[in-house]
Amino acid sequence: MSEYYSISPTLYDDQFWWKKDDIEFWNQKILCSKKQASVLELAAGTGRLAYALIRGGAEYTGLELSQDFVSYANLKLQSSFGCSPILQGDMRHFDFKKQYDYLFIGFNSFLHLLNNHDVNIFLSSIKKHMHKKSRFYLDVFVPHPLFLYRPKNLKTKVVEFYNSETQKECVIEELLDYNSTQEIATVHWIYLDNCNQRFNEFQFKMKMFYPDSLISLLTENGLSIKNIWGSYEGEDFSEDSNLQIYECMLLD
Ligand SMILES: C[S@@+](CC[C@H](N)C(=O)[O-])C[C@H]1O[C@@H](n2cnc3c(N)ncnc32)[C@H](O)[C@@H]1O
Repeated sequence: MSEYYSISPTLYDDQFWWKKDDIEFWNQKILCSKKQASVLELAAGTGRLAYALIRGGAEYTGLELSQDFVSYANLKLQSSFGCSPILQGDMRHFDFKKQYDYLFIGFNSFLHLLNNHDVNIFLSSIKKHMHKKSRFYLDVFVPHPLFLYRPKNLKTKVVEFYNSETQKECVIEELLDYNSTQEIATVHWIYLDNCNQRFNEFQFKMKMFYPDSLISLLTENGLSIKNIWGSYEGEDFSEDSNLQIYECMLLD
């Protein structure tokens, strides 16, 4: 697998123009120490979070599957900060022979690990890159029945955005098919321009992780959970939370 996201990096940035609510959270977690912290981001995408962290002074490395995303992100970071810190690779198998102070996987990217085997090998790679004081963070949404159990052919408008390539206002309509046995949602995005013309389509899968199974997976893989937050504002996780954000260290 050399690519998971088959949309162009520009389209990704355009459609996720609204995703800014996590930046302050990561800045606070990662830029809080006095010394320059080393940080490894998994599934770094187009460098959305890399940008903020490098600007804040982190010694940042990213890993991303899509070569197009890597090239695009590094071009942006090179022109702003003179560095190209994002490497192409699969987060399930990587070995940088280095330990980082902070490791994190944000914005639901963990959900692209579609089975327990993938989670286990991912966590084993993560642990190789942790020292005794490293913190590993994982940020995913809590699966909600209203999101998962929709009529199969019901299209839901999920976002409006400005397409910087075509210079047109656009919308994405979503179809979702949930396999409750495998706990995998197949998401189909249909891109329409302002004349209602379809100009792109994109399908991807996400595994739904409920808090109890995620807690078991993390602990069974030798991680000790220090905190679970339910929002980027740092509220404790509760049954009403939309997010589950884990802070882990290596088990002693
Ligand atoms: C929702 S995007 C998040 C990107 C970025 N972290 C952000 O916050 O904007 C998910 C990213 O995961 C990447 N991805 C999926 N599977 C991967 C894998 N096995 N290894 C590395 N990256 C992967 C995709 O290419 C995509 O860039």
